[in-house]
Amino acid sequence: MEQQQQQQLGVVVAIGAVVLSALYTFLASKSNKKPDQAKDKGRRSRSRSEGKQKVDFTSLQVLYDRKCFGGRQIRYVHESKCCQNKMIFSVYFPSSYKDTQEGIKDLKIPFVYCLTGLTTSDEYFPTSTGIQKWASKHDVALVFPDTSPRNTGVEGESETFEVGTAAGLYLNATKRKWSKWQMYTYVVEELPEILSANFPRLDRQNCTLLGHSMGGCGSLQIYLKNPNKYKGCSCINAVTNPCNGVWGPKPLTAYLGDNPDSWKKWDPTEVVAKYAGPPLKIWIEQGSEDPYLNFDLLPYNFKEAADNNGKRVEVKLTYREGYDHGFACVSSLIEGHLFYHAKILGRVKEIRKPSFFD
Ligand SMILES: *[C@@H]1O[C@H](CO)[C@@H](O)[C@H](O)[C@H]1NC(C)=O
Ligand SMILES: *[C@@H]1O[C@H](CO)[C@@H](O)[C@H](O)[C@H]1NC(C)=O
Repeated sequence: MEQQQQQQLGVVVAIGAVVLSALYTFLASKSNKKPDQAKDKGRRSRSRSEGKQKVDFTSLQVLYDRKCFGGRQIRYVHESKCCQNKMIFSVYFPSSYKDTQEGIKDLKIPFVYCLTGLTTSDEYFPTSTGIQKWASKHDVALVFPDTSPRNTGVEGESETFEVGTAAGLYLNATKRKWSKWQMYTYVVEELPEILSANFPRLDRQNCTLLGHSMGGCGSLQIYLKNPNKYKGCSCINAVTNPCNGVWGPKPLTAYLGDNPDSWKKWDPTEVVAKYAGPPLKIWIEQGSEDPYLNFDLLPYNFKEAADNNGKRVEVKLTYREGYDHGFACVSSLIEGHLFYHAKILGRVKEIRKPSFFD
């Protein structure tokens, strides 16, 4: 989405990939450092497979593990079954995660899946928005999936910002070329299983979705398709109607083919128009000066489609005067979103006082 920064981003992503793979090789060659939060990883070596599979799809390697607001910010890499590739994700464990583990066995920690935007990675929220401060305050964990598989060997995977690396769109590609791009199944099915196998204290019954930009698009359609798996959903500057956007048709064509009917099940506005599940509430915040607002985000289309479907999905669309699309906006609004999620997850112990940014 940050088109003007594309070139720099390309360079940064390329350098990042090189550094990351060097780091990964280095770490893989060292003894595997395990986070103390994941001691219950006796389960790590236990394969879930029925029979002869060699790869343990639940085993994780730590890329880094850093203290952060009293808790730990940890980045993992693992072999993904559905993406047939290595996948990276990060987790923020608040300080209580460890105490819980060693103390009251049954106490579980609720968490928020944080889905991020085009050209970014699992590191966007943790490094650009200060989100851990609020997770720490409300005692919730955060799970940050990456935005696509990387270094898959698919020709041209990093050539454009619209398709391929960091452009997974949280859908299941059907075109053969992009068969590793199964980010929907990854986020909705595989990653939760990996979390359960490695971090049983994370409360899978008590989790929510938070999305920015392309991650908003993913959060919305994932929530609408699985209203019983998640307790709530909020977005900042979400792509809500990619079929009608400027950017959307290119990746949708690449991943799904050129019949626009096949795109609709991944388009939140199309999905909400036909939604027939239990009543839901969704909160979308939108910077009024976001340059993509009327080209790719179109949150008013989403709200209108929801309203026209009997308000079964109640959409609160809040415009924030003067804010644009990226980190400056997200870091300003993130406190309010973590408060919203903490409330849904039963973690709010006080009334929130208006912050500087309200
Ligand atoms: C996603 O793809 C998997 C196979 O990879 C399939 O089983 C699943 O039904 C797909 N989900 C959707 C919503 O299309
Ligand atoms: C979710 O969290 C709340 C508040 O901590 C708790 O009361 C509840 O038992 C948890 N589990 C479910 C399934 O709601």
